[in-house]
Amino acid sequence: MNAPAQKGLGVNPPSHVKNTQLIAWVSEMVALCKPKDVVWCNGSDEEYKNLCELLVQAGTFKKLNPIKRPNSYLACSDPNDVARVEDRTFICSQKQEDAGPTNNWCDPSEMRNTLKPLFDGCMQGRTMYVVPFSMGPLGSPIAHIGVELSDSAYVAVNMKIMTRMGKEVYDVLGTEGAFVPCVHTVGAPLSSGQKDSTWPCNATKYIVHYPETREIWSYGSGYGGNALLGKKCFALRIASNMGRDEGWLAEHMLILGVTPPNGKKYHVAAAFPSACGKTNFAMLIPPTGFDGWSVTTIGDDIAWIKPGTDGRLYAINPEAGYFGVAPGTNTLTNPNCMASLNNDVIFTNVALTDDGDVWWEGMGETPAHCIDWQGKDWTPAIAKETGAKAAHPNARFTVAATNNPAIDAAWDDPKGVAIDAFIFGGRRSTTVPLVTEARSWVEGVYMASTMGSETTAAATGAQGVVRRDPFAMLPFTGYNMSDYFQHWLDLGAKLSKQGATLPKIFTTNWFQKGADGKFIWPGYGENMRVLKWMIDRIENTVTGHDHIFGVSPNYPEINWKGLDFTADQFAQVTKIDKSAWQAELVLHKELFEQLSYHLPKALKEAQEGLEKRLAGI
Ligand code: GTP
Ligand code: SPV
Ligand code: MN
Repeated sequence: MNAPAQKGLGVNPPSHVKNTQLIAWVSEMVALCKPKDVVWCNGSDEEYKNLCELLVQAGTFKKLNPIKRPNSYLACSDPNDVARVEDRTFICSQKQEDAGPTNNWCDPSEMRNTLKPLFDGCMQGRTMYVVPFSMGPLGSPIAHIGVELSDSAYVAVNMKIMTRMGKEVYDVLGTEGAFVPCVHTVGAPLSSGQKDSTWPCNATKYIVHYPETREIWSYGSGYGGNALLGKKCFALRIASNMGRDEGWLAEHMLILGVTPPNGKKYHVAAAFPSACGKTNFAMLIPPTGFDGWSVTTIGDDIAWIKPGTDGRLYAINPEAGYFGVAPGTNTLTNPNCMASLNNDVIFTNVALTDDGDVWWEGMGETPAHCIDWQGKDWTPAIAKETGAKAAHPNARFTVAATNNPAIDAAWDDPKGVAIDAFIFGGRRSTTVPLVTEARSWVEGVYMASTMGSETTAAATGAQGVVRRDPFAMLPFTGYNMSDYFQHWLDLGAKLSKQGATLPKIFTTNWFQKGADGKFIWPGYGENMRVLKWMIDRIENTVTGHDHIFGVSPNYPEINWKGLDFTADQFAQVTKIDKSAWQAELVLHKELFEQLSYHLPKALKEAQEGLEKRLAGI
């Protein structure tokens, strides 16, 4: 690994790259990582095409049938590199308490000492791609620039879809502009003559953030949020630090626009944990009974939210594409998403059909035969016998936002959209009602802080286990979680002092299961019915009913036209079960014990209020 530096390898920046700090940093990283060459990406379509072709030749990509799925590719990863690795993700702040108890922490100088030998020569035999990108519209005052150095062409092409990537970024950077340096390696140097694998990676993985110096270093994985560093690492973990310092929010939220027949448009930002329905909700098609309603997508995963001069909160989607969960997506549950996937898509870890197309569990008609994500023959009989999945449960698609037929006209407006409501929604098979409105900002922050959710395949580790996932940000808040709660409370207090009407806060749970183990609530497009009730609450045309946790709808307040969902079923998904809530409160308390350092007093008081109300029922 410690091969001698390839003396004489210049970084040769193209003439349009003038940023002195960038050139110096690339030189330094070349000396450290020792790639065989350096490619400065310009983000052109031709470059994308060439890199895809290169990936086809390397065996990383399979080109899909151009008639069925034009300009689209399938990549299958190493079976040990299929999801985010939370246990290998580190926030290396100077002080441990600034990372807080929910993050893995390591002293920054110690981490630098650990990483140095790993990065020394890590790109040997590979090309270093210099990927300049903007999170948010290019040149907009709310956008931030990053440059990712990666030895993965797969990363370069995914970054082209997921961000505003390319030459224009250098123009915005100019000679002195600031950028977040992101270094990524798959950690698999090639000695001369060594045959490459189709998905190089390393059993050792480090996803490292230095919040004070705003740096990202990623080692050993080529998958998703571990490797596409503009996404979780920058737009959430580093950006949450920027937001705390500068008075704004970086959130794991979709953003949608919803317009009733009267034409008055509302904007909603919703935080659901990973693989808990953000992409689905963001692309929702109003069901029967909602003639004249429309829902449009601003973003499906990340929101940057800043207070405007009018005291309202404005949200932008810093991304330019979707890296969405494939399994479970079909023309019934999410027709807009399926339509987005017709062409120009990179699929990762789905199955390859005999006619050169893709398939995944829950997509529709099961093929008689396909090649599964691990390259093995798959048939329904094999699946029955071995339980083998054709697609990995965290299989994903990468697609440009502009492919979405329901894209909002303002999706890349640098001003952002004014938020009318926040939703926080976990995946809970019991206990938590379908929808609850918070009676105040503090109560809403309490709900978000104590949210629990069953873990999904989006991260490695145990699946289906309830854990607290505050604000759906447990893996993404780049600083102390209690300070993050305080930041939310402070922002609310500041805006209401200015006389602003704060967005309402709701919490949802689409995932309660009945005794038969099936979801009780039909979900997907039917979630529109809950969204409408929220709008009615904003307009104060319905009252709902109070309970210990907040306000939930009365059965007749929901538009049931076109859906057969009885009052009994509704009672089942909205009930408050005393003993279940007693057990739930124990978990809330455990969380607050864990987060006791800097835990806002207002949240402790909100908890005491809940406990008292619970004792009274
Ligand atoms: P990340 O990209 O990981 O942050 O996830 P996401 O929140 O965008 O998740 P996505 O919308 O892709 O949903 C993933 C899973 O949730 C899929 O298996 C869906 O089928 C399922 N899902 C989404 N919405 C609903 C719903 O309303 N009800 C039920 N039961 N399942 C849903
Ligand atoms: C998530 O896990 O929340 C994702 C996918 O959106 S990844 O980009 O891999 O983090
Ligand atoms: Mn996500």
